[in-house]
Amino acid sequence: MKTIITFGTFDVFHVGHLNILRRAKMLGDRLVVGISSDALNMKKKARLPVYLQNERMEIIEALRCVDEVFVEESLELKADYIRQFNAQTLVMGDDWRGKFDHLAPLCEVVYLTRTPTISTTSIIETIKIR
Ligand code: CTP
Repeated sequence: MKTIITFGTFDVFHVGHLNILRRAKMLGDRLVVGISSDALNMKKKARLPVYLQNERMEIIEALRCVDEVFVEESLELKADYIRQFNAQTLVMGDDWRGKFDHLAPLCEVVYLTRTPTISTTSIIETIKIR
């Protein structure tokens, strides 16, 4: 059984999120997703998510390609989460390319290309303008 782990906020769910989760799942048998807590998102992006963490967890957990979700409390704990879930592969979007190479002794590290043009930030901006 090959376990894949990935992380993100997944706020205002969009097709870029779906694409990376589907592609991550195709790399193994079981996909575990760490969803950034509201507090971590405040630190990382300096804003509270539109959808709070329990709603984001419910949405991601309901996807056919996702087997398990948990709350990611800190960016510094990736190695612990990888061990805890016994993950063989860490998948990140290529906006993070190179940033997690130090975890390579622990598991395979794969950066997948982001879906062009779409992001939670751009969706929020579009809604504001309309
Ligand atoms: N992602 C992707 N393609 C996109 C947007 C996001 O592959 N167009 C991936 C990211 O690389 C990450 C995961 O989806 O691995 C979760 O990203 P997240 O930061 O939650 O979404 P963004 O839309 O990038 O959010 P924001 O605009 O707030 O930074």
